[in-house]
Amino acid sequence: MKQIEFTFSRPDVSTAVHLVSRITDIDAPSDFLILDSGVKNIYEDSLFSCDNVIELPGGEASKTPDILKRLWLEMGQAKLRRDSRVVVIGGGAVCDAGAFAASTWKRGVSLTLVPTTLLCMVDASLGGKTAVNIAGEKNQAGTVYPASEIIICPEFLQTLPSEEMVNGLAEALKTAVTGDRQIVEYLLQKDYLQAVTACLAVKGRIVAADLEETGERRLLNLGHTIGHCIEAISGFTISHGAAVAMGIPVAAEMGGNDDFAMEFREIARKLGIETVIPSTITYQRILKHLESDKKTTAAGRIWIIPRGWEDCEQVLLDQTAERELLEKAWH
Ligand SMILES: NC(=O)c1ccc[n+]([C@@H]2O[C@H](COP(=O)([O-])OP(=O)(O)OC[C@H]3O[C@@H](n4cnc5c(N)ncnc54)[C@H](O)[C@@H]3O)[C@@H](O)[C@H]2O)c1
Repeated sequence: MKQIEFTFSRPDVSTAVHLVSRITDIDAPSDFLILDSGVKNIYEDSLFSCDNVIELPGGEASKTPDILKRLWLEMGQAKLRRDSRVVVIGGGAVCDAGAFAASTWKRGVSLTLVPTTLLCMVDASLGGKTAVNIAGEKNQAGTVYPASEIIICPEFLQTLPSEEMVNGLAEALKTAVTGDRQIVEYLLQKDYLQAVTACLAVKGRIVAADLEETGERRLLNLGHTIGHCIEAISGFTISHGAAVAMGIPVAAEMGGNDDFAMEFREIARKLGIETVIPSTITYQRILKHLESDKKTTAAGRIWIIPRGWEDCEQVLLDQTAERELLEKAWH
């Protein structure tokens, strides 16, 4: 079993990443197992057993305060101690909620994440962000609590619905722009083990230097400013990954890097990711949405502008500059 180890900026925190090719090779003894129902329904027979198994609904339905409360109550019933281990097997949503519960039970128990979607493998499982949504608002409550162990098994991807696959491909492509062009080749070859390994190496490097997102980690928000607007304006009919992939070339064009934007769109197309923004999502609607974004400050908003592969910069734009550059890119 291949192992990559990341150490984060807190001296006492590290995450070991194990890679296995078969689900039956996953070795993760646990005192409390949290399972994504979308995974349990398909893989029940191949997954190891545990005395305390809690099934959560897949997707955002598992990121609620009620689910968190249920997990805490079940953890109490299972008499989980400070030295117990929680294992979470599922997509990013179930991992976010399960990790939140693990991070707060007895002020933090050992945590193993087994991501089962591409997005969770390349992104959500690593870096310690845990969260639940509050009153429909995404990720309003959370902690920063890196898992001590992540087990990656691309065999799970064989059953992932194509829309979920596109979400993960888009985040992986974002990671390629942020830190490693070679990821593009792995994705085009459908070599997901190599792609995930390379993505985790990039994210691990960035997060290790900036766990609390006060500097370099912001680069991972590439494509997200426009992406969040597109997602919301579409009434969430455009998925997060697809929206981010639409946002990345716009950010490049804001920086005047039109050639890179064109190359990015071509690669995305080859991977089956749509980057053409529907005509109903107008520049005016984007502006209106940006105005309501709480991430802006009196000085402006930080944009992540790609200049090329492995070359992104953080640029603080005041409202006037933001409008000007966005209008130029849009037309
Ligand atoms: N913590 C972080 O740093 C971080 C980063 C990015 C995204 N996220 C969060 O991740 C969530 C999205 O995660 P996601 O994209 O993994 O999707 P998801 O967790 O919403 O899962 C999508 C669907 O796929 C199903 N599923 C999972 N694995 C499967 C498999 N192997 N085969 C078939 N079906 C499977 C699930 O049951 C669910 O219905 C969002 O809530 C987002 O906020 C967190």
